[in-house]
Amino acid sequence: MASLTVRRLDDEIKVALKLRAAKNGRSVEDEVRVILRDAAGSAEPATIDPGAERPQPRVEGGRRVTLIIGGGIAAYKALDLIRRIKERGFYVRVVLTQAATHFVTALTVSALADERCYTDLFDSQSEFDAGHIRLARDCDLIVVAPATADLMAKMAHGLADDLASAVLLATDKPILLAPAMNPLMWRNAATRRNVAQLLHDGVLTVGPNAGEMAEANEAGLGRMSEPLEIAAKVEAMLRPKQLQNLQPQSLNGLRVLITAGPTHEPIDPVRYIANRSSGKQGYAIAAAAAAAGAETVLVSGPVNLPDPKGVRVMRVESARDMLSRVEQSLPADIAIFAAAVADWRVSNAGEQKIKKSASGLPQLDLVENPDILATIAKRTHDRPKLVIGFAAETEHVAQNATAKLARKGSDWIVANDVSPATGIMGGDSNTVQIFMKDHTAPETWPAMSKDDVAGRLIARIAQAVHGVPPKSMS
Ligand code: C5P
Repeated sequence: MASLTVRRLDDEIKVALKLRAAKNGRSVEDEVRVILRDAAGSAEPATIDPGAERPQPRVEGGRRVTLIIGGGIAAYKALDLIRRIKERGFYVRVVLTQAATHFVTALTVSALADERCYTDLFDSQSEFDAGHIRLARDCDLIVVAPATADLMAKMAHGLADDLASAVLLATDKPILLAPAMNPLMWRNAATRRNVAQLLHDGVLTVGPNAGEMAEANEAGLGRMSEPLEIAAKVEAMLRPKQLQNLQPQSLNGLRVLITAGPTHEPIDPVRYIANRSSGKQGYAIAAAAAAAGAETVLVSGPVNLPDPKGVRVMRVESARDMLSRVEQSLPADIAIFAAAVADWRVSNAGEQKIKKSASGLPQLDLVENPDILATIAKRTHDRPKLVIGFAAETEHVAQNATAKLARKGSDWIVANDVSPATGIMGGDSNTVQIFMKDHTAPETWPAMSKDDVAGRLIARIAQAVHGVPPKSMS
């Protein structure tokens, strides 16, 4: 059935239907499909996309958090937590316990998470493909906030009689609990035993904090940590391993300038020439440089990525804007040109939208854009000590990279094969070779995530800057 139209329903049924759909995080139409399928007793899986896989923005490293919201008054703070985790560039998928649905609605949670939330262990829709196993495994971290006394008791005893506890029992991922309960419940011997057991099992906690309770005249230890505090802990746990291994001070006192993303070259006020660069690699390098203590400036073309922490970001559109921002940002000690700058721009770009005309196709005259890398590498004044370019090639990677090193005057070229089969352009992983001036053989690094390439590149730069001899640097 390609489409479904439901007309002339009683208002009461309409309201009930809307509520049921909202609770399950489905459209009304999808909800009707589920009801019909169940009524028909069909053994066929419904061909429904309940919004479950509505794509979330692709983010750095694609790290994913399953957030379990327990049934306590602090559940309202978990709504803010969803935003705070997303703000840090992670995906969030939410499970609500039945008790939590008394405090927050599935509709609000789904709207904030950009994805339906999950409530029911026996939901035919998600359990068709073992939904609780997917929720437990298809993530990098499980956060429980608020973690109620009841939920922690279930965890400590390995119970799995609802979706949240089943996910927690089925996971092999790290678990972070943000306990929240009345101080008397927190102090109760049973809770003490359960928390001790969970800590012994390797579960991590944040909070609870001391303070006022929701109940009048009650105060003490039991308030859930603030969303910002929990999000900071999530971020610390999910930081790429490569960044965790970085010496935090290895680039202290140095200024690093990075370009990233594509450029947009206008054809007229509404059209432009662009390319498929996502900016992920350059953003990851900026994050790694900042994590290593560098004063980091990122000049970014138009991308859909959050500003990396601790980095000064300047957003530009065209190659000429990018060059001028880069020049304004000098002097710098190290410059890394990861942007996929458009080679050409339209010299006769329309001031108004170009209209179709009977007299033929518009004539676009292309002129070459300034080469930002070459311009900076060949400066005689204020040239950064280390200038690094990228070479995205679809063939003859080594020859092209070596030629580029000489032609552009850079010190290193980070080369990668971006032919479509590699999935590197826009993807999360990268395989690179580092070509260095005066070195015949390049360093070839194994395939790794773009975050790991960034961490390793910054570590490598730190070695070079601190004068570690080339032979021991690979
Ligand atoms: O010539 P090609 O575009 O392959 O060179 C890639 C390297 O040069 C990258 O580091 C890129 O950021 C830089 N580049 C630049 N300005 C241009 C073209 C490329 O900075 N106009």
